[in-house]
Amino acid sequence: MPINDGRTPASDALVIFGVTGDLAHKMIFPALYAMAKRGVLNVPVVGVAASKRSLAQLRKLAKDSIKRAGKVDDKPALDRLLSLLCYVHGDYNDPETFKAIKQSLANAQRPTHYLAIPPSLFATVINGIGNAGLAKQARVIVEKPFGRDLASARELNRIALSVFAEDAIFRIDHYLGKEAIMNILYFRFANSFLEPIWNRNYIASVQITLSESFDVTGRGAFYESAGCLRDVIQNHLFQIVALLAMEAPAYQGYGAVHSEKAKVFQAMRPLRPDDVVRGQYVGYRKEPGVAKRSDVETFCALRLFIDSWRWEGVPWYLRSGKCLATTAAEVLVELKAPPQRLFDDSAPVEGRANYVRFRLSPNSAVALAARVKRAGKEFVGDQRELYLLEEQPGEEKPYSRLLSDAMVGNGALFTRQDAVEAAWAVVDPVLNTHHPVHSYKPGTWGPKQADELIAADGSWHNPQPAKAAK
Ligand code: BG6
Repeated sequence: MPINDGRTPASDALVIFGVTGDLAHKMIFPALYAMAKRGVLNVPVVGVAASKRSLAQLRKLAKDSIKRAGKVDDKPALDRLLSLLCYVHGDYNDPETFKAIKQSLANAQRPTHYLAIPPSLFATVINGIGNAGLAKQARVIVEKPFGRDLASARELNRIALSVFAEDAIFRIDHYLGKEAIMNILYFRFANSFLEPIWNRNYIASVQITLSESFDVTGRGAFYESAGCLRDVIQNHLFQIVALLAMEAPAYQGYGAVHSEKAKVFQAMRPLRPDDVVRGQYVGYRKEPGVAKRSDVETFCALRLFIDSWRWEGVPWYLRSGKCLATTAAEVLVELKAPPQRLFDDSAPVEGRANYVRFRLSPNSAVALAARVKRAGKEFVGDQRELYLLEEQPGEEKPYSRLLSDAMVGNGALFTRQDAVEAAWAVVDPVLNTHHPVHSYKPGTWGPKQADELIAADGSWHNPQPAKAAK
């Protein structure tokens, strides 16, 4: 896919709203440092936040964040980054704040504005940018969550589109910047052997698990307003489904990929309460910021159907949760059993003979599974996995990839308005209408009701912990 469609010049400044916040600390400064190391950040970086600080304090904040994320192994790059920083503080409701930003931008004509702020401030800041005349030739990066249901996502799109053109809006889903997830698109369409079997005739089911062994510590209040379905399923896991399920793009260019992905969301059957199992780990209600009787899910499993020619009748099972048995993410595309059982063991005891497994994190891997005959008189075999990819050292982190893409106007790894809204439309019916949460013990694979959800099609595939995985 073209890196940059070539129509728009690169941004000549980066404005970060919320520069003193958690996201900047955890993700953005380390990403800027990585960009400085690669030599792709050479423009002024204007940090904006409400609190009064000196430039020296902002630089210290940046250094601390970079050190926290890893070793400083390129001092000149760090110094370069620090020299690019400047700071503006003020109330986002006050036009003076935006005037001060304009002054800091000096001669820059094409800034990228990064909204690393709570969603409740998106509209105020977008309007502030527009009213100050800072939107011309500019781009805007919007952090997730992009809305909290269909209506709020539509409203947010309306506001953003009243100030920016669609191709100047970069909605971040950091999963799209992960190598293993980009590889799904590449693996599917750079090879010809998959296409004949990649449909309802050969595929029995698809599973995606994003499992995390840690709790919501420190994010209780956020989780209370989101829950697992909104936090990772409607966005991250749905994006993975779209890449796995989409038709081949009609041309080389990311607009074609966006169109095919949007069609997948449009073909997804809206969820009903019985398609969803919600869980809550024991202890969640004691977390700071969490209601004593909270019914918010920290685990969610669901069964999804895509009503398209290719996928009719194939169940897609998605699952994610906090405090689960391990931290790993995998996709398992299970093929149907051979039409006849010619050997006693051609259906293995553990149930799966042929599948494609994509390991997405903590390491990237792609494996094809098959049965092979064991040497000897008997026709009995072993289950084997053929690794096409086992490890990709030196993968670029999503945020540095995505920030640099946005700044050159490359929207390939961002989400488009129609796709975001179509994805919300799928989950919207169950956001408020659902069965109560089932509790589960930390360190397990969630409530047993999730096993019942998948029982008709087998069982969940539990990803191995990092060390055991090849
Ligand atoms: C974030 C969610 O978007 O993604 C978190 O808010 C989740 O709850 C995280 O832990 C997972 O991302 P990653 O890259 O760590 O797998």
